[in-house]
Amino acid sequence: MGKALEGVRILDFTHVQSGPSCTQLLAWFGADVIKVERPGEGDVTRGQLRDVAGADSLYFTMLNANKRSITLDTKNPQGKAVLEELVKKCDVLVENFAPGALERMGLGWKRLSEINPRLILASVKGFGPGPFEDCKVYENVAQCAGGAASTTGFRDGLPMVSAAQIGDSGTGLHLALGIVTALFQREHTGRGQKVMCAMQDAVLNLCRVKLRDQQRLANGPLREYSQFGEGVPFGETVPRAGNDSGGGQPGRILRCKGWENDPNAYIYFITQAPVWEKICDVIHEPEWKTDPNYATPAARLPHLNEIFTRIEAWTMAHTKFEAMDILNTYDIPCGPILSMKEIAEDTSLYATGTLVEVQHPARGSYVTVGNPIKLSDNDVPVERAPLLGEHTDEILGEVLGLDAESIAVIKQTGALGALLREAAE
Ligand code: COA
Repeated sequence: MGKALEGVRILDFTHVQSGPSCTQLLAWFGADVIKVERPGEGDVTRGQLRDVAGADSLYFTMLNANKRSITLDTKNPQGKAVLEELVKKCDVLVENFAPGALERMGLGWKRLSEINPRLILASVKGFGPGPFEDCKVYENVAQCAGGAASTTGFRDGLPMVSAAQIGDSGTGLHLALGIVTALFQREHTGRGQKVMCAMQDAVLNLCRVKLRDQQRLANGPLREYSQFGEGVPFGETVPRAGNDSGGGQPGRILRCKGWENDPNAYIYFITQAPVWEKICDVIHEPEWKTDPNYATPAARLPHLNEIFTRIEAWTMAHTKFEAMDILNTYDIPCGPILSMKEIAEDTSLYATGTLVEVQHPARGSYVTVGNPIKLSDNDVPVERAPLLGEHTDEILGEVLGLDAESIAVIKQTGALGALLREAAE
């Protein structure tokens, strides 16, 4: 088997989550990802949420697999010179600094494309051009500004953010697609280009069904929302819809056997129209197949509370896994609410490489999420994240062709940080 992005070299100037999640994916497609980090500290997440004293955090190690790390002080003239040499040798520079930071380093698009006209410069920013373009942005800010928070949660509760990192990792995914597309275009044009993904835009892209509903509101109430059946009038904007399904087929989270003691003994149940008769059989309400109050999707909408209460009486008599087994024999769409513990212990996810256990010299073993995108001709085993500056000499030698003497000269300037560290010790 091959490696899909073999021969592509990425200068990974990213930190925290959005950028690193993007470059980790590219590494899993076989690109050589060189992570440039500030000497001494490195990516701030190395030390954030640290659970093992002295070891890089899981926050860092789960977002930086299969990369090489070089420490470089880019505010040191020699460090900046090394960075510019690396730009010449790389296909893509990925960064997610605050707006203007790259320009303040003297490495705006104009300068970068002068150094390497084939370079693709890929950036994550919080916002695109507009009133908020200079803001620093984190995950939940993006979820709020991208429309996710106002449409998540229950109607009578606060706006909600999601545990799924749609602002950070969601943007990283979008950016990765932009990068491979730009690489593909470069095959024909020979030119690099800028790829920009704003976190607000990525979240909005993932929330487009809610913008759909915003426009539908002009033409009447959103009949598939539970509040329609409850007789609660709609306002001017899309309301929060609890656990209603977004696709027009009513769905809810229902209690299963054991819910009193297990916070995840629940199942998502969809009353999909084509299987309505089978649902009636399963819950022992055969007369609902023909009763005019229940027989058609439109007739059911005002009765959803009653219908789901009846279905829940059935799910509560079964564990979520028993209910899954029974419902799947009838092709009734449903999904167990899996806890993170259940997921971490699911051997089938390890068999596919979606979960991977890796060894780390300072942490011991840890579990990470492997490449969720499976290519039949791409074989890149997941490798642990690098230690800070682990590959500094290797990269200077192998990528820039510097000999030990030249590397020693650079070290003397403090550009790689070693001198500063040694002086402090
Ligand atoms: N050597 C020397 N200086 C370095 C360096 C290195 N190797 N790497 C970074 N720096 C400097 C930068 O030049 C910048 O300096 P400046 O402010 O003097 O220009 C500084 O480090 C800090 O960068 P910044 O990006 O502002 O970090 P921050 O911690 O203040 O902000 C974010 C963090 C995430 C809020 C911000 O980077 C941001 O908004 N990024 C875009 C959106 C994004 O990706 N957010 C999600 C993160 S998951």
